[in-house]
Amino acid sequence: MPFSKLKPKINTILANDAVSTNERLNQVCELLQTTVNYYDWVGFYFANEAEKTLHLKAFAGEPTDHTVIPFGKGICGQVAVSNQNFVVPDVKAQDNYIACSITVKAEIVIPLFKEGKNIGQIDIDSNTANPFTEADTKFLEWVNEEVAKIL
Ligand code: SME
Repeated sequence: MPFSKLKPKINTILANDAVSTNERLNQVCELLQTTVNYYDWVGFYFANEAEKTLHLKAFAGEPTDHTVIPFGKGICGQVAVSNQNFVVPDVKAQDNYIACSITVKAEIVIPLFKEGKNIGQIDIDSNTANPFTEADTKFLEWVNEEVAKIL
């Protein structure tokens, strides 16, 4: 399904006040993981600034052991510190990488900003090599902007 068709579906999920914010985030993960064929695991981590850790709040795909990630560790932890998008075409080429599954070949992590502050991120793992383009980056930046509005 093209990203242009997914956008209104995401807006519908996020606008549903009848369910909790966490449930809406889970539904966004589920939608992305089931409709984009190279999105094999989709999750939202949020920062605990006092502890300098990221905490997994919502996800779709296989459960992961990595529900808490220290700032600086792995791709996610690096994004918590850098405030920059991190696109990894080949996870094997990364030294500072936390493997969640041996099937994962690529990863994209896009920070989520609320009032200019990096408060979390969307993290997507792919079992396909080098699958992410500028279109993914732009789309996921948009997803995070929409999510920020309900936080
Ligand atoms: N690979 C990530 C860890 C999170 S899992 O992908 C779910 C990382 O290196 O930060």
